[in-house]
Amino acid sequence: MAKARRKAPVGAKKKAESSRWYSAFLWGLIAISVAAIALLVAVAGAFGGSGTAKTSGTVRETASPGASVTATAPPATPATKPSGGSTTPTASPAGTALSADNTPLVRCGDILAPVDKEHRLGEDCAPPDLVTLPGSISAEGAQSLRSETASAIQELFAEARKDGYQLLANSTYRSYATQVQTYNYWVQTSGKEYADRTSARAGHSEHQLGTTADVGTDGHFLESFTGTAAAKWLADNSWKYGFIVSYPEGKEGVTGYAAEPWHIRYVGKDVAARVHASGLTLHEFLLH
Ligand code: DAL
Ligand code: ZN
Repeated sequence: MAKARRKAPVGAKKKAESSRWYSAFLWGLIAISVAAIALLVAVAGAFGGSGTAKTSGTVRETASPGASVTATAPPATPATKPSGGSTTPTASPAGTALSADNTPLVRCGDILAPVDKEHRLGEDCAPPDLVTLPGSISAEGAQSLRSETASAIQELFAEARKDGYQLLANSTYRSYATQVQTYNYWVQTSGKEYADRTSARAGHSEHQLGTTADVGTDGHFLESFTGTAAAKWLADNSWKYGFIVSYPEGKEGVTGYAAEPWHIRYVGKDVAARVHASGLTLHEFLLH
């Protein structure tokens, strides 16, 4: 005779049932949590992927521009200095995913704010006191800088003239929206790696401060300014008038950008003298 199956007491059956429900509930909870974490990771990846780790990993640390950056100089504002006449960039609307990075925002209007690959200005940050530079010292189009910087650059240029150099401001204040176009232009024409060595992403350009200018002499702008006597004069003397060459030769590993002997930023005479004496790049000085 088959052994009679022992009938479980009603209480035990209920207990087993509720334990099954409890276990199913726990597994459901775990599954939902895993899905939520996966979703968060995916979203963080999509919005945090525009940082600079990739750049610093793929760019030679001490590259000289001649060695690995093409000789064609990046136009500061491609809309006004196209390399072929018909290369007006396809504008992306300001505030595209390019602004969606996780770097800290710095204080708008602070002339000593670090603005680099790790720190950015807000999309709506614009200098409060921009003035237009005289046409006689502007290379092309209307050039504007913050009031104090505009006075300082005129003093700098006047001193340069005494030593025989007719310096001109080539690209000065650039809005966030202009920088979106500038960076996108370089990505489209020269690739992302080149763009990241020579052009700041929107929000990360010192030009948005209104205290920065690209300087050249007639016929010698950007790359063709490199190595000229005027570039040497600028490197040797600009600090005396409150300016620092932000991206000096041989410091790409520190600043994140290939050398730009034409790009000067105003920080005031006292700070510029201290930066000069320190031997540090402006990037290092402002961060330490
Ligand atoms: N060329 C410098 C890095 C800028 O775009 O601000
Ligand atoms: Zn510049």
